[in-house]
Amino acid sequence: MQKIIAANWKMYKTRPEAAQTAAELALALPDGTPHGRLVLVFPPFTAVDAVAEAFTGKKNLAVGGQNFYPAAQGAFTGEISTGMLNDAGATWVLVGHSERRHVFSESDELIARKTAFALAQGFKVMLCVGEMLHEREAGQLRDVLSRQLSTALEPLPEALRGTLAGRLAVAYEPVWAIGTGKVAGPVEVQEAHAALRALLADMLGETAAELPILYGGSVKPTNASALVGLDNVDGLLVGGASLEAQSFLQIIGS
Ligand code: G3P
Repeated sequence: MQKIIAANWKMYKTRPEAAQTAAELALALPDGTPHGRLVLVFPPFTAVDAVAEAFTGKKNLAVGGQNFYPAAQGAFTGEISTGMLNDAGATWVLVGHSERRHVFSESDELIARKTAFALAQGFKVMLCVGEMLHEREAGQLRDVLSRQLSTALEPLPEALRGTLAGRLAVAYEPVWAIGTGKVAGPVEVQEAHAALRALLADMLGETAAELPILYGGSVKPTNASALVGLDNVDGLLVGGASLEAQSFLQIIGS
């Protein structure tokens, strides 16, 4: 399975700033990526086309949308469609990111609709899951991950389930580690990733072994190698440390 190093630029960077960082990444990776990894960037909507343009013709560099509304078009003020993202050059979407769940109150039900819709539209989906601190402390890690995965994946029609290898990645981002500088320890990460792999196997059978499970939450150049070397960690989803090209490049090469 191809490992993935992904950058979530959240609500940072103007279009010229994003274009500049994307150009630096493309320039630094002239012949593909270290270890053949897939490098993904999720810029703000206004910069998706600029980043896609900077990555044109680059092997293993791709662009994604941070969000979308699961309808072809319509009266949905403030929203963006997968068709619009496709038009701008995106091939991936993030679904279920912690900030969408907790800042914007996205429900498991909406996340399920978004997952199915994006896959049906031919997009690749990075489904984010992760527990809050009080849930981990209450011993609810497995239950939370199970609920988040099953509500998103169990309703998928049979026809889509057969197409998930190479089109679905799961990102484990413990909420308490996002933007806090508090990275989950190796035991905590492995426990969660092993649980996710087992849950995926229960839900999807053999395909589970082909789905990358990424870790996200305070990933830095200094901890990336150790994280990506852990069992069942098939990549990284990076926020703050992906904003500077040099720092993200160190993580890509870790
Ligand atoms: O999606 C990535 C993210 O939520 C982690 O952010 O800044 O802790 O790397 P950060």
